[in-house]
Amino acid sequence: MTISFTRLDPAGQDRAALIDFMTRNDFPFHVGVHPSAADVEGAIGKGAYRDEDNDSFWIDHRELGRIGFLRFEDLSEGTPLFDLRLGGPFRGRGLGVPVLSAATAHVVSTMPSVNRFEDQTREDNIAMRKTFVRCGWLKEAHYREGWPVNGGAPLASTAYSILRRDWETGQTTTFVWDDLPVRSTDRQTLGHDVSPAETTKEAQHHGR
Ligand SMILES: CC(C)(COP(=O)(O)OP(=O)(O)OC[C@H]1O[C@@H](n2cnc3c(N)ncnc32)[C@H](O)[C@@H]1OP(=O)(O)O)[C@@H](O)C(=O)NCCC(=O)NCCS
Repeated sequence: MTISFTRLDPAGQDRAALIDFMTRNDFPFHVGVHPSAADVEGAIGKGAYRDEDNDSFWIDHRELGRIGFLRFEDLSEGTPLFDLRLGGPFRGRGLGVPVLSAATAHVVSTMPSVNRFEDQTREDNIAMRKTFVRCGWLKEAHYREGWPVNGGAPLASTAYSILRRDWETGQTTTFVWDDLPVRSTDRQTLGHDVSPAETTKEAQHHGR
C-alpha cells in the first residue's frame, strides 16, 4: 500500500506536530484559512481531533513520508464525513486520489455499520472535486451560497458521497438528477404575489 494512516494522539505526543502542521500550511478552501496556534490548541481542548465524533490520522506515503492530515468526523452519526489536508509541498501532484481511496477503504473495512461516506467542499476547490469524481464518489447536491467566506460573498458548497456497495462493486450507483417535468403553470413565483412596482406603491401608501 502506498498510503497508510497513523492514528494521532492530539492531546499527547502529536500535539506539537499537529499545531505545527496546521499553522505552517494555508488552507484556502477551508473557513479557517490560516489557523493560529491558539485556534488549534482550542480545538484540541474541545476534542475536535479525537472524541466520540472525531478521529485523526497522519497520512503517510511509502516513498514521500508524512504528507498530510486526515480526520474522520461525525463518527457517532452513522455517516462519517472527513477533513483531508495535504501539506503544501504535496498538493498538485495527484496524491489526493490514492489518499481518498485509502480513506474510503479504511471506512469500508473498519466501520462495518457505515453504508455512506460523504463530504462537502467549496465549489471552487476544483482539485478536491476532481479527486471525488476520480475516486468514484458522486455529486449529490450543490448548495447555492451555502459556504460562508470570510470577508466575501458566500460561495456554493458541493456535496459528494460514496456508498459501501459502490466501493465493493466498483460501480457508482446513480440516480435521476433532473426533477420531474412540471408545466409552466405549476411554477409558483417565490412568494411574490405582487410585482416590485406594486410593492413600491404599497410602501408609499404606508408612508415608508
Ligand atoms: C484537495 C486536495 C486533497 C487535492 O489533492 P491533489 O493531489 O492536490 O489534487 P491534484 O493535484 O490531483 O489536482 C486535481 C486536479 O485539479 C486540477 N486543479 C487544481 N486546481 C485547479 C483550479 N484552480 N482550476 C482548475 N483545475 C484545478 C488539477 O490541475 C488536477 O487536474 P488534472 O489532474 O486533470 O490535471 C489537496 O490539494 C489538498 O489537500 N488541498 C488543501 C486542503 C483541501 O482543500 N482539502 C479539501 C477539503 S474538503
